Amino acid sequence: MTVTTDARAPWSQLRLRQSAHVRDLLAETRFSVDQLIQPIFIVDGASGSQPITGLGDNARLGEAAALDVIARDVDAGVRHFLLFSIPARKAESNLRFDPAKRATDAVKTRFGDALCLWVDICLCSSTTHGHCGLLDPAGRIDLDASLDALGRMAVDVADAGADGVSPSDMMDGRTAHLRKVLDEHGHGRVPIMSYSTKFASQFYGPFREAAASAPQFGDRRHYQIDVRSRRDAIASSVRCAGEGADLLMVKPGLTSLDLISPIAEATGKPVGAYQVSGEYASLVSLAQQGLTNFDAALLETWWVFRRAGAAYLITYGARQAAALGLGR
Ligand code: PBG
Repeated sequence: MTVTTDARAPWSQLRLRQSAHVRDLLAETRFSVDQLIQPIFIVDGASGSQPITGLGDNARLGEAAALDVIARDVDAGVRHFLLFSIPARKAESNLRFDPAKRATDAVKTRFGDALCLWVDICLCSSTTHGHCGLLDPAGRIDLDASLDALGRMAVDVADAGADGVSPSDMMDGRTAHLRKVLDEHGHGRVPIMSYSTKFASQFYGPFREAAASAPQFGDRRHYQIDVRSRRDAIASSVRCAGEGADLLMVKPGLTSLDLISPIAEATGKPVGAYQVSGEYASLVSLAQQGLTNFDAALLETWWVFRRAGAAYLITYGARQAAALGLGR
């Protein structure tokens, strides 16, 4: 195709946009699979692979199946994984975290430093009621008991070799508590990637099926951020940074784009975005109906996250990055 520019226009847009080489030369945004984190769901005691509605090739995996999937992902260039451990049994109190420990140990024993394993710290897959903290008899969050359990989970997975911990529970003060107990147990070098600006959202649907973590009553609005609030959303990350979070995060990603730069400026910390299950599933669904090109649409969203200043991305499509031209 030949494109003629209008010589009378000193500002021609065509001159700089007509050639792929010139577009590449001037692209202001670049990144590779190095900045992507792939979530992995390991179901304790399960075997094989069980699909998750809407999430494409992401599945609930038994340990052996998960190790196979991770091996393929590492070959494809993925270096960062976010582990969600799903216990076979749930409880209301006295939670134990052996499943998360076992899964962490299995991955790190097999892959060592070939990958960086971040482990999600939350109680919602472990509790019978599906809330992210423990409840008092009145059904309200019991903060002390919740922090105690979260701290034990973080120390357990750090003992098992986790490279980083990632609290997603949104309990008050959890980042400071995790930093304290990790340090006390000799894990002063383990970084905390806090879900620091996490909204109550309708976009977590497929995840809650995957993690068997849907609240059995009520919702998460008494501990997750109200989407109408900007000040609260930024303050939440600022607080987490002050409590010792090493990496910050906005979640859901696309509905938080406007907050990434303000948080980075206010804290001086790396701020990532979580392209959550419902965001990813919406692309899968559009493509299934023949309404979009999945690969191109996924890539488009990733460029937008990067353009908005996201230092890293958690996405269910990380393993496709090399195939999309973002190899290492
Ligand atoms: C657990 C947790 C959730 C997600 C990550 N950790 C769900 C929730 O808060 O209800 C959502 C991730 C996704 O939707 O991909 N607290």
